[in-house]
Amino acid sequence: MSRKALIAANWKMYKTPAEALAFVDAFLPLVTGHTRDEIALFPSPVLLPTVIPACKGSNIAVGAQNIHFAEEGAYTGETSIGQLKALGGTHVLIGHSERRQYFCETDEIVNKKLHAALKAGLIPVVCIGEVLQEREAGKTSDVLKTQVTGAFAGITPEAAEPIVIAYEPVWAIGTGKTATPEIAEDAHRTIRAEVAKLLGANVASSMRILYGGSVKPDNVTALMAQEDIDGALVGGASLKPESFSAIAKY
Ligand code: PGA
Repeated sequence: MSRKALIAANWKMYKTPAEALAFVDAFLPLVTGHTRDEIALFPSPVLLPTVIPACKGSNIAVGAQNIHFAEEGAYTGETSIGQLKALGGTHVLIGHSERRQYFCETDEIVNKKLHAALKAGLIPVVCIGEVLQEREAGKTSDVLKTQVTGAFAGITPEAAEPIVIAYEPVWAIGTGKTATPEIAEDAHRTIRAEVAKLLGANVASSMRILYGGSVKPDNVTALMAQEDIDGALVGGASLKPESFSAIAKY
């Protein structure tokens, strides 16, 4: 089963609107006509009204780093799916480890957000991954299974088709320590097997599983050569057009 890779930029809390626009202006010509992979940018919510129109008509999709599961309401500081969609956003990150670590996001919240994103027709990128202590204690596969099961509660095989998973070992995020291709592949296989158990072999074999954690132009090729790695979620190395386009063209 061939899966079209997704190469995604997680800009986190970086860039002003002017810097975001300068990135897009420099980046688009570097990836013109690149159709082998899907490419997506995930900027801060205040940058969406700048980045989405700037990417319109190009081969670059744009999504949010987070959304609330409620349609609207008294949730100070949050962004609704309706607001994202009204701007033309198509993708959303859900449950990034920084959201889990600093903003108390649980598997239950991730699950609610996933249901809401699917209902609205967004492409959700569900982030999972173990912390260093869990890896060292030999609990990686248990943690991944728990996170997948929690995120996918109540999701049917029919509804699951747009879902993308991003495996991001927390110890490799922003640390310069990348998982070796073998370590990453091993985790991806565990995740795919768990998806198969929950949603069936067909859904599992077509679901894209991205790797994230210190992906750079010089390590992306070896990671992408692994059978179960279907793309990358890139933080630090996605902030510069040259480096992110080099990753997209691995
Ligand atoms: P990094 O971040 O590439 O800077 O490690 C990845 C992520 O957090 O999505």
